[in-house]
Amino acid sequence: MTALFSPLELRETTVPNRVMVSPMCQYSCEARDGLATDWHRTHLGSRAVGGAGLVMTEATAVEARGRISPEDLGIWSDEHAAALEPITTFISDQGSVPGIQLAHAGRKASIERPWDGHDPLQPDDGGWEVVGPSDDPWPYDDEAPPTTALDQNGIESVIDSFRAAAERALDAGFEVAEVHAAHGYLLHQFLSPVTNHREDDYGGDFAGRTRLTREVTAAVREVWPDDKPVFVRLSATDWLPDRDAWTVEDSVRLSDQLADIGVDLIDVSGGGIHPESSPDYAGPNYQLRYAERIREETESDIAVGAVGGITTPEQAAAVIANDRADMAIVGREHLRDPYFTMNAARELDATDEIEGPPQYRRAWGF
Ligand code: FNR
Repeated sequence: MTALFSPLELRETTVPNRVMVSPMCQYSCEARDGLATDWHRTHLGSRAVGGAGLVMTEATAVEARGRISPEDLGIWSDEHAAALEPITTFISDQGSVPGIQLAHAGRKASIERPWDGHDPLQPDDGGWEVVGPSDDPWPYDDEAPPTTALDQNGIESVIDSFRAAAERALDAGFEVAEVHAAHGYLLHQFLSPVTNHREDDYGGDFAGRTRLTREVTAAVREVWPDDKPVFVRLSATDWLPDRDAWTVEDSVRLSDQLADIGVDLIDVSGGGIHPESSPDYAGPNYQLRYAERIREETESDIAVGAVGGITTPEQAAAVIANDRADMAIVGREHLRDPYFTMNAARELDATDEIEGPPQYRRAWGF
């Protein structure tokens, strides 16, 4: 069997193949209420029809002020869960596993969506006050929205929001919960010494800076059933070699601690903490080496997903066949080709190894 099309067993969940749709913001809640729309249903549903083993939602805000843009998806009320439920049902009906990325943007919140200008939004202009580990705002060229350091109550309320969001996600039918601790958003802001200047128990040394991510993940794990997997997305490195910043060694160490909390897979990304943070190499598989390192250097047997610059079936197949990662996570190529997995099966001469929708069989020969 082609390794790419072999199932991945995570607890009692079987992901039918190793292709995952990477979480990608759609900025498509036109009513600015965080409720899933026909766009989300069609977008996520098509990628399930296209054969991806796991379809992950975009960053889904656990509270309204945790959205990046006003048009982001949210899961801060039961109404949000109800709007997502038909989507998870459809994804599951296609034989794919529905996953949700639970997110809080912290100080990177309250910004226009890319095609509206991507400028920071002030509270009197459709934006809101944002929070972070400290009151340093994201260094925008324009004025940032007011930024407040979370106090102890604020931290507890963030943890509660992640826990409640996970409970709702379960009601909505998701099988996988992914905690977003990457790309410079709230949890990463606490992890990195670039942004965390706190002097209390949530800052300072490695234990202090990782505490919020560990507590949020433990809260999610507590309500997520034992038979279902939890993922965490990390930025493996801040890509700021000249500063005191988050490193791959830190990621290896944290991954082992997350494994102890009950995390099943680390989704290994990079960067996003600061405007100067940029990859030292941006070609094919540009973050694969970090996934590989976490896989090799952790003492636990936590699984890893590789993301970044995976665009061809051969590449995805090699990542799995050469044992470099457990999951090939494909982002932008899925925006170009919702049928990435079905096309991969054809190109790799393996159409007998995936199901494919019966409605399309006459065209695909499955
Ligand atoms: C993203 N990315 C992203 N990452 C994440 O963790 N949560 C998100 O909501 C988003 N949103 C998002 C929107 C869009 C339009 C793009 C293109 C990307 C990052 C994405 O998941 C992925 O990590 C990167 O795109 C790198 O993978 P590819 O695109 O090279 O396969």
